Amino acid sequence: MAQHEPRRTPLALLPTPLMKLERLSRELGGADVWMKRDDLTGIEFTGNKVRKLEYVAADAIDAGCDTLVTEGTPQSNHCRATAAVCARLGLRCTLLLRPPAPVQPQGNHLLDVLFGAETRSYERPDFEARRDEIVAEVLEDLRRAGHTGRFTPMGSSEPLGCWGYIRALAELVEQVRDANISACDVVLAISSGGTYCGLLLGKWLHKAAHVNLWPVPVSDDVPHHTRATLDLCRRTIEQYELPVSIDESMVRFIDGYVGEGYAIPYNEDIRAINLLAHTEGIMLDPVYTGKAFAGFLDAVRDGRLGRERPAIFLHTGGVFSDFAWPRLLLGGVGGDE
Ligand SMILES: Cc1ncc(COP(=O)(O)O)c(C=O)c1O
Repeated sequence: MAQHEPRRTPLALLPTPLMKLERLSRELGGADVWMKRDDLTGIEFTGNKVRKLEYVAADAIDAGCDTLVTEGTPQSNHCRATAAVCARLGLRCTLLLRPPAPVQPQGNHLLDVLFGAETRSYERPDFEARRDEIVAEVLEDLRRAGHTGRFTPMGSSEPLGCWGYIRALAELVEQVRDANISACDVVLAISSGGTYCGLLLGKWLHKAAHVNLWPVPVSDDVPHHTRATLDLCRRTIEQYELPVSIDESMVRFIDGYVGEGYAIPYNEDIRAINLLAHTEGIMLDPVYTGKAFAGFLDAVRDGRLGRERPAIFLHTGGVFSDFAWPRLLLGGVGGDE
């Protein structure tokens, strides 16, 4: 790994498998379709977040903190993964949830509770207006109660968290080489951005010009993600003195799959989830990976990807939120919400 790499606490089951989706490839007319299974980083940790949390948790422990504090929705995969990591490491966990969690916990939030996380609920407008103040208040409350908290933002998309996918890029490069793949396209969901930023920095740090990255926005528009990606990459480069520079020409997206907004599923998203479930027995989720996979399928179907070189979908997890949307998954949009 790069000499600038901070300490990490190994938690994820790595390397995650890189596998060809044989039945889906046939279904898509002989395309060359693969999946990198980061949904298999560990059952409770499942997904991309644990790779980032390996660094954040190590940093918290090294700084003498006994509590991780983070933010998200009640169905946040990141909050659930943080709660699981804390339980594993004997840390306390405080989750700042907005909107407030339902009285009857389900899906990811059921797991937050079972992992012993303390949850504090906020109305979204109040949280958004006073976020920094609320975080400072919570850290101060912990201090008064004799604890020391470390805050990590949504998705652990902070410079330290980016190391999770800088490292994952090196893992993928090795697997691609072992599979005799000389060049490939990698498609992934992007929201808070740390996964893509890590991969992008890793691509340039590891001189992996043969790995082409295609993030699919699932929550915000392209101008937002361009700004956020450049900002997070630059902060990470500066903080760790990385010998790379990232500019706008290196950042590109497969756009058109947000739908009406974050966590608002749509029919093509649900159809993409059902297709993968039926052909490969692999589950996606309606908030992140279903939307990104809808973009991946369109690009393979119209020949942009998966013809000249393998197209790899990075499965970033999220399966537990499926259990909060049963009617939607069975009946399409108009089911649950
Ligand atoms: C399942 C899943 N996939 C993808 C993402 C997006 O990753 P990032 O926030 O690093 O852009 C998330 C973020 O919460 C997620 O939970």
